Amino acid sequence: MSLLDRIIRRQLILVMGKGGVGKSILAAVLAHSLAARGRRTLLLEVDPRENLHQLLDVAPSGGEIVEVGDGLHLQNLKPRRVVDWIVDRQLKLGLLVRRVLDSPIYHRFVEGAPGLLQLAILGHALRLVRGDLPRAPTIETVILDAPATGHGIYLLTAPGLVRDAIEHGPVASLAGEVADFVGDAGKTGLCVVTQAEEMPVQEALELRQGLSDKIGRSPELLVVNGLYPPSPAAGPEDELSALWRRRRRVNEVELERLQRQWDGPRVDLPLLPIDDGPRLVRALMERFEDGLRSGGW
Ligand SMILES: Nc1ncnc2c1ncn2[C@@H]1O[C@H](COP(=O)(O)OP(=O)(O)O)[C@@H](O)[C@H]1O
Ligand SMILES: [Mg+2]
Repeated sequence: MSLLDRIIRRQLILVMGKGGVGKSILAAVLAHSLAARGRRTLLLEVDPRENLHQLLDVAPSGGEIVEVGDGLHLQNLKPRRVVDWIVDRQLKLGLLVRRVLDSPIYHRFVEGAPGLLQLAILGHALRLVRGDLPRAPTIETVILDAPATGHGIYLLTAPGLVRDAIEHGPVASLAGEVADFVGDAGKTGLCVVTQAEEMPVQEALELRQGLSDKIGRSPELLVVNGLYPPSPAAGPEDELSALWRRRRRVNEVELERLQRQWDGPRVDLPLLPIDDGPRLVRALMERFEDGLRSGGW
């Protein structure tokens, strides 16, 4: 069975990596790939600066689930709303709930309480794939464009921390379910995105180590994005060509490092001269699927 066939069966796929490496693009590529194979997929964005809709060529979701087409949906999640829902569920006393949700102390608590927003994001994904959300479409896989902070590792460790800290009650039981969900490699897939430059590669290797140390998991896939194409051996001697050769050389050195140090499936994607988001996603999707096939993954 190919890696894509295996990845498709996951209920949640986390796309992780530092900002600017092409995480959102890759999340969109994966979402299209899965949807094209008939998997009912939702692309989940948590960045308040909504931008995935531009890559998918739909209107901003404003927090709601929007249909992109062919079994693909998109949502820009406001994690605060989910935390409010958890509180609402815990305090089943209408008036009191309003007073709590409106109070400044509560606002500060939500922003400061370790792990609560992370739990809200993953808890939302879990409820989506379980069909627990009223009015939501049937979703089989959620692809999460994970926040870049800490490369998303905190997202994975937070539920366990919350569970251990709270122990009893609905928040603790949600935290326990989410911790099990993300700890289960059959349910949650991890995809790391990087660029073939010194710092991003170093950080991808550290992320891999961190995942192994903290949750005993390793990523299913590494995507190296934005590779400069090999420069022509004999070309013009202008500054731009010299820059191209230098960047390509850095790429080659870092790809060699990954070859030695990254154990597991890897797909390389080129830097493409395409500005238009949806076109870029389609072009990269083709290369992504080719890369998986030709790598024998
Ligand atoms: N392979 C690529 N070729 C050309 N442009 C790319 C490629 N990958 C990403 N980009 C561009 O780089 C920018 C950052 O990509 P994005 O996916 O938003 O990064 P991230 O989500 O990691 O911050 C975007 O403008 C995107 O269009
Ligand atoms: Mg992004």
